[in-house]
Amino acid sequence: MTSNVLVVDFGAQYAQLIARRVREAHVYSEIVQSTISADEVRAKAPAAIILSGGPKSVYEVPAPSLDPAIYELGIPILGICYGAQLMAQQLGGEVARTGAGEYGRTALTRIGPSRVMSEWAGTSDCWMSHGDAIARAPEGFTVSASSPEAPVAAMEDVQRRLYAVQFHPEVAHTERGQELLATFLHHVAEIPPTWTNTSIIEDQVAAIRAQVGTEKVLCALSGGVDSAVAAALVTKAVGHQLTCVFVDTGLMRKNEGEQIEETFTRQFGVELIHVKAQDRFFEALAGVTDPEAKRKIIGELFIREFETVARELGKGDDGPRFLVQGTLYPDVIESGSGHAANIKSHHNVGGLPEDLSFELVEPLRSLFKDEVRHVGEELGLPAEIVWRQPFPGPGLGVRIVGEVTRERAEILRNADYVVVDEIKKAGLYRELWQSFAVLPAVRTVGVMGDGRTYAYPIIIRAVTSDDAMTADWARLPYEVIESIANRLIREVDGVNRVALDVTSKPPGTIEWE
Ligand code: XMP
Repeated sequence: MTSNVLVVDFGAQYAQLIARRVREAHVYSEIVQSTISADEVRAKAPAAIILSGGPKSVYEVPAPSLDPAIYELGIPILGICYGAQLMAQQLGGEVARTGAGEYGRTALTRIGPSRVMSEWAGTSDCWMSHGDAIARAPEGFTVSASSPEAPVAAMEDVQRRLYAVQFHPEVAHTERGQELLATFLHHVAEIPPTWTNTSIIEDQVAAIRAQVGTEKVLCALSGGVDSAVAAALVTKAVGHQLTCVFVDTGLMRKNEGEQIEETFTRQFGVELIHVKAQDRFFEALAGVTDPEAKRKIIGELFIREFETVARELGKGDDGPRFLVQGTLYPDVIESGSGHAANIKSHHNVGGLPEDLSFELVEPLRSLFKDEVRHVGEELGLPAEIVWRQPFPGPGLGVRIVGEVTRERAEILRNADYVVVDEIKKAGLYRELWQSFAVLPAVRTVGVMGDGRTYAYPIIIRAVTSDDAMTADWARLPYEVIESIANRLIREVDGVNRVALDVTSKPPGTIEWE
């Protein structure tokens, strides 16, 4: 296995970004909580440790701290911002509440020797975000740089392999930040830059084989990228031992089921159980209009369907003991750091009843979304699956505003196909975070040919975003809007009007429900 770096999270906005930068230096990293003990660190045997920043002051009670025995392990440590101040305070230096913090672009001046900034002379730009400042470095430390409000903006004790910077090397505004991180990792901690996508596949295939041996494995495919790539990896590792389950809720995108079937059954030769559960979903959703109630019904029914398959496979005791999940690195970070948002619980099969007692196989645990896509491409998954935009677990169910019926789902699925098809033709699909159709369950009057129509409107929703936390409505070219609208009216029965959603998030959400 590759060398590991621990990023200790003190509640930083940037912990994930630090991990990302470490990855860009081709080194594997893992985020851990600040309550980790020296013994736990020793057990993980990391090649280096990075202490993140955090929103607290070291003077606050309670403020997150670090087991001081960790400093004695001889492992190279880099403290950043709060992590730097904590190191200074715990090792006998002084942190002062100056009252004059620094926020944003700040001039950093070299004033002493440094192993991690050996090539930087004079003054350069760095990114600061601090109220307190280190006033005096602990004994044994050399001060390497200062800024107007931070007399100790960088310090190090080469003997003890301890390094600390008040600024944020992980943000792009710190001119030579990535260089500092790379120097710390490659030269101070002597970790070779060997972590790549190919080693991800090789490592994971080996790990999956070691974990599951000759036992059977089960995987729920959702149509999304993550479960598809996870299943493809498991196929590469233990092909014929895998059974995939695709539950068609009737609320999937057009051709989703066929595509999954084509890829996994015909291309990869995997055993695929295609559960056609549409009737049961529409029946359960009849008369329900409350968005959260709809989500709950869809989530629970999905689990029940999956459970039925799992139990049937389990007959005779030689059923699958392992369950594949497409958990990604950001999910691991979120749950590991204690700031877990309960984002996807209902549609992840993580919510399965305990008596099914599967052991989880999570081959994507160490990857970011874009890395997952690249792995998927390398494994030979089709571009349509690998580059598919995110889709909510409850599917079209949360894009029909009002009661979900079979007829409305069919209209919406066809409309969604047209929107996405035109967006793809215009070359915009990968640029947009999401682009789709929404169907409010109201009908309006129109005229087509010589007749009056009374049919549904379709709303075009297209947004740009980095992480779905905030989003902006996409400024689609008029011609694209026009061709979408024309095709929706012409090709989709049951639609007689088209509108465009120009709401950002906030105040709106991306989905309509
Ligand atoms: P909103 O609508 O809250 O959506 O701005 C943010 C992102 O999350 C997706 N989304 C969901 N995903 N189950 C999911 O798995 C859900 O119930 C759900 N609701 C929204 C949405 O598509 C967007 O990418």
